[in-house]
Amino acid sequence: MEWFKDNFTISDDIENIDLDVVLLLLSNTYWASDRTKETIEKSINNSMAFGVYDKDKQIGFARVVTDKTVFSWILDVVIDENYRGRGLGKWLMTCILEHPEIKHTSFALATLDAHDFYKKFMFKENTYMRLKKEI
Ligand SMILES: CC(C)(COP(=O)(O)OP(=O)(O)OC[C@H]1O[C@@H](n2cnc3c(N)ncnc32)[C@H](O)[C@@H]1OP(=O)(O)O)[C@@H](O)C(=O)NCCC(=O)NCCS
Repeated sequence: MEWFKDNFTISDDIENIDLDVVLLLLSNTYWASDRTKETIEKSINNSMAFGVYDKDKQIGFARVVTDKTVFSWILDVVIDENYRGRGLGKWLMTCILEHPEIKHTSFALATLDAHDFYKKFMFKENTYMRLKKEI
């Protein structure tokens, strides 16, 4: 699927993803700075992946791990810092939450500091348990 706004496009086509851009975007995050290109590629191939594009240039990314039936986990949400504060992150989240293949599922995500961003989409704070593995 594709969504359009001004010069920007959001696409769920994995073929459009620029792995080098995703590597760079994630390398500047607190949760995935050490993820290798191979790991990122495999994670994308096993997820729904969303790219945000300024014409042909990728400037944002998110992916969703989902059973497309009852549950979806949103992760790796990131917009290039030069493009932040223009509503693109909110648009990306809206496209994910309205995607026809997953919009009927429950959603969850984890964040250390962006709670107020996700509260805009009715996410509520909760507790969960995890078993963390080093990649
Ligand atoms: C979080 C992020 C994706 C938001 O993208 P963005 O394009 O800058 O966001 P938008 O311009 O659509 O802003 C949407 C709203 O959320 C708010 N917001 C943006 N980032 C926020 C954050 N980190 N925490 C809380 N609120 C935030 C904005 O102030 C704005 O509020 P408003 O609608 O009341 O004006 C982007 O800042 C980013 O990539 N941050 C680094 C990676 C990250 O922290 N990702 C989330 C990890 S869980």
